[in-house]
Amino acid sequence: MENELDQLYGEIAGCLKCTLGAERTNTVRDTGNPRNAAVVFVGEAPGSNEVKYGLPFAGEAGKKLNLYLEMAGLTRNDVYITNVVRCRPTANMGRRNRTPSREIPLCGGWLNRELEILKPRTVVTLGNIALKWLCGKECTIGDCHGKIIENGNFSVYPMYHPAAAIYKKELDGLIRSEFKELGKYLGKVDS
Ligand code: URA
Repeated sequence: MENELDQLYGEIAGCLKCTLGAERTNTVRDTGNPRNAAVVFVGEAPGSNEVKYGLPFAGEAGKKLNLYLEMAGLTRNDVYITNVVRCRPTANMGRRNRTPSREIPLCGGWLNRELEILKPRTVVTLGNIALKWLCGKECTIGDCHGKIIENGNFSVYPMYHPAAAIYKKELDGLIRSEFKELGKYLGKVDS
């Protein structure tokens, strides 16, 4: 498994499928042991901190995610985290992050291959981008959050993106309770 992931990430590091590839300064990869991962989390795309450190969810959204993982009885070492889009989509001459769009169909194949290697039983999607890529465009996080969707190869557990709670503080309580439910589903916290 590790060799296959190394091979995959080697290819990602050289990817020029979209224009973001030419601006890439670093490849973002989780350092966790994927064999021990109870669950795979899929975010949207890296931001500036993720690129700086080469790690997913290394900034403000990552601090939120760590808190929510705690609610589920999980730590970063218990999970494997990845993204739909591998390079940082920017706007305003690179000054701010932007939601990925045209990059998604070009980049999403890397995630499909990664999941084929990892063979997870449960995939937690964080936000709309990962949910739509794995479950179809008709799925929206507003309708699907907290409800398990069987994808065929694995169960998808749709969650709000942790950054949503930074912009919409009223979502924080809901996300906490849904991560607690996730912990129960995974047998990590008592029912
Ligand atoms: N947001 C994401 O969706 N992914 C990251 O890796 C960081 C922030």
